[in-house]
Order: sequence, then structure tokens, then C-alpha cells
Amino acid sequence: MKKETVLVLDFGGQYNQLIARRVRDMKVYSELVPCTISAERVKEYAPIGLIFTGGPLSAFSETSPKLDPAIFELGIPVLGICYGMQVTAYVLGGNVESGKTGEYGRVETEYSDHLLFDGVAKTGVSWMSHTDIVSRCPAGFKSIAKTANTVNAAFANDEKRIYGLQFHPEVVHTAQGLDIMRNFVFGVCGASGDWDMKSFVDDQINILRAKLKGKKVLLGLSGGVDSSVCAAILHKAVPEALTCVFVDHGLLRKGEAEEVQNVFGKQFGINLITANAQDIFLKKLRGVKNPEHKRKIIGKQFIKAFEREAKKIGAVNFLAQGTIYPDIVESGAGGSAVIKSHHNVGGLPDRIGFEGVIEPLRDLFKDEVRRVGFELGLPEHIVMRQPFPGPGLGIRIIGNITREKLDILRETDYIYRDEIAKAGLDKEIWQYFTVLTNMRSVGVMGDHRTYDYTVALRAVNSIDAMSADWFKIPYDVLDKCSARIVNEVKKVNRIVYDITSKPPATIEWE
Ligand code: XMP
Repeated sequence: MKKETVLVLDFGGQYNQLIARRVRDMKVYSELVPCTISAERVKEYAPIGLIFTGGPLSAFSETSPKLDPAIFELGIPVLGICYGMQVTAYVLGGNVESGKTGEYGRVETEYSDHLLFDGVAKTGVSWMSHTDIVSRCPAGFKSIAKTANTVNAAFANDEKRIYGLQFHPEVVHTAQGLDIMRNFVFGVCGASGDWDMKSFVDDQINILRAKLKGKKVLLGLSGGVDSSVCAAILHKAVPEALTCVFVDHGLLRKGEAEEVQNVFGKQFGINLITANAQDIFLKKLRGVKNPEHKRKIIGKQFIKAFEREAKKIGAVNFLAQGTIYPDIVESGAGGSAVIKSHHNVGGLPDRIGFEGVIEPLRDLFKDEVRRVGFELGLPEHIVMRQPFPGPGLGIRIIGNITREKLDILRETDYIYRDEIAKAGLDKEIWQYFTVLTNMRSVGVMGDHRTYDYTVALRAVNSIDAMSADWFKIPYDVLDKCSARIVNEVKKVNRIVYDITSKPPATIEWE
């Protein structure tokens, strides 16, 4: 039986993948496809509904993305969001023009009596981000919502089941936005909502088996959630094809290398090779202060370490990576500005010596990846493990990296983690770690003046790493962490606590 699918046509908006994810959260499978998809191809998917995303351009400009008009003739319900509404209006003969003022942020919106707004209060805040407006609806369409500046804040052609929303229902700032999406997915498209992560896993396993039959695939296993889940899904799909390489780059937390070998090598029986590359990483990073340079170097050395191992084990066709969707967005590959080039996206050299790259988790958000992990039977301590960046402690030492600084940081991080666990906070905090700030200050120990490092404690809660709130660790726990660190770790005489959220800060300091 064909699975119920809502196809999301991507017109380049920043929330494109979020829309698909919202639909998946409703237990309906959803996939993002380019807006250039042909009507024929759409038909092959046999989706129960189509959603058009927002996009940065003007529907009436010659260069802006359009779509195959035959898509509107397929009889499949359509929901256009922002640009997706405007392009619908434009292609179907309505009028789109540049508005006088534009609307940005929270806008009070009046909804009329309509299936799309079933159960939704008559007025509410919606999230807008547009200059262009639909000044005239196409024939057969009527306005179903308005704001002070926009008469056509939403439109509908009930006969053809084509709808448009000028605002973004997928973002949390639109109160009742999810209700509106639900009304489309269930009320209009008639979804039954029987899809779950198990279906995702089954589908991915089939795809991986078809693609990797008779081939060899190499995965860089870091022990973090993403690469662990990636290893588990590959191991389930093609155990004989998979070799995992664990690169010990010397930028790991205390005890981490041993743990990875234990869990994946011994318990899971995955074919695991450990590459000890500590010296070469340190050598290449010597004197490097710029965080982006560090990431590039670490990313490059990772690939090199893989290639060295790959050579040893003979021909390998594919490189697998635990890339997840936020990695792609924040590295700018999703069309938005580069914040940080996460090594598993940005540092990848053009020519990597493999036939291709396998990224089974690239469309998923972190919490979805965890659900996949549980589905695959991974233990909780791996699935719920806090995220750890690919470049590891390398981006938690501000400035240049030395073996001594790594040892200091490792010890402080170990104590911090220990105290967080003892306080029972390890399941409550999404990510927590120490940072060696590279700043030194004066202290006093015994009768001696000291001039040692300042270590920062960081703890944040987040759902998908795109935004984060700083976590309020109780004072007594902070007190224990501080006292233990300065007493037990040489060369540290001051502890500070990072109380910034993301944005404006990022989670890591580099
Ligand atoms: P930021 O610091 O960008 O971090 O707010 C968001 C999440 O991503 C992790 N992170 C990285 N992960 N390679 C990775 O694989 C990287 O270069 C990288 N930089 C940050 C960070 O730990 C947090 O969970």
C-alpha cells in the first residue's frame, strides 16, 4: 500500500524543511522536493496533498521560481504558504504586486468561517514576513482572512481545494498555526495519520539495501547521537557492507574512546576500526586560533583519516555521515547565511575519493533522530546522550589548542558532568559542557598568587539546536562544580557561568 504523503514543494524559503517536519509530527509522511518537479513526477508520488513553501523572490519577477501549472490540474489539494500563495495566485491568473508597507513579525489576523480555520479563534496573531501581496485573487478564489494591511491574508478555492496563506502557520509565533495546518492535512486532504518513525526506519532500510547491495560503506563513528543512529540504521540494513571508523582525534571527552569501542565494537558487534590520529590533528591545529579554520582543518583531517583506513581495507564505495538537517541549515547549504560550518557539511573536500555520500538522517531534526534511535533499539544512554560537536573539544578551547589545554578542559568537563549527573540534572539539560576561555586572571591559592585559566560552564536546553535557552542550574550545584574544578584541576583558578541564550549567542563558544 502506498504511504500517505504530503509533498512539500520547496521555493527556497527558510522554513521549508520545518513545514515537512510539522506534517511528520502529525504522523503523516512528508518530504521536501524542488519546486521544479513536473506534474508527472508529482503524480507518481500520489500525494494526498501539496504544500508550497515560502521563498525570497517576487512571484511576478521573471527569474523567480515558478511551477509546472499542470500540477493544479491533478486534483490534489494545495496549500500555498507566503510565496507559495503568491505563486499560486500568479500562475492561476490573479494579481501579485509589491505592497506599500509589507508585514513583518506578529500581525493581528481576522479569520473567516472556513474549513481551514475550523476550531481556530476568529482573530489571532499570525507570523508574517512579506512585502508582496496578492492584490486580486484568481477567478474562483475568495479571501478567507484579512489583516489591517492585507485584504487577502488567506484565500480559498473550495471547489478545486486550492488554498493560500500569506502568513507562516509552521512557525510557533503563529498562534493556532498548527491547527490550521492540521485542518489542511486532515480536514482537506483526509489524512489518517498512521505514519510513524518505524515506517521511516523501514523505508530507509529498504533504500539503503537497494543502494548498497554488494557495495562497501565506511562510516565515521564519533559516538555522538547522530553518527550512532546512522551506524545503527546502516548496521540493520547492510551489516556486511558496513565498516565504522572511529577517529580518535584527541579532541574527545574523558573516557569517550573506550566507551565507543565497548558499545559498538563489543556489544553491537559492528565492524569497528579505531584510527589513532591524535598526533596529526594536534600538529595540523598547532597555532590555529580561528574557529572556522579549526573546523576546516578538523573536517579535512577526518576525511583523510577515513581515506587512510579505507585504503587499508580495500575498495570502499560510499562514505556515510550522520548529517542532520540543522547541520545543513547552519552551514548555509540550505540557502541561509553561514553561521558555523559544521565539519560534516562545510569541511567536506570536493574530491573525497568515494563514489558518493550516504546521509540517511539529513532531513531529520535532532529529536526525530533520537526517535529513530529508539526505534532501532539503541540504549537510552546513547540515544539521549547530549550532542557533541564533530570538532569536539577543539572548538571549546578558545584560541590555539595544545595538549595541556586539552587535558585541562577534559578534566573540568569530567567533573562538571559528574556533578550534573549526581544532582540528577543530566536528563533535564539538553547540552552542558565546559569551555576553556583562554583568558587568565589573578587568583590566590594558599599564600601564593596564581595566574591561571578561567573556565566557563555552559548548560542549555533546546529542541533542535536552532535556538536554545540557558539552563538555570541551582546555585548549590554550581557551587560544587566550581569548588571541585578549582581544587582538582591545576591551572584553573576561576569559574564563570554562561547565562546567554541562542540567539544572540550560539551554544558553543566557537
Ligand atoms: P551552535 O554552537 O551552532 O551549536 O549553536 C548547535 C549545535 O551543534 C553543535 N555544533 C557542531 N556539531 N560540528 C558538529 O557536528 C560542528 O562544527 C559544530 N558546531 C556546533 C553544538 O554542539 C550544538 O549542539
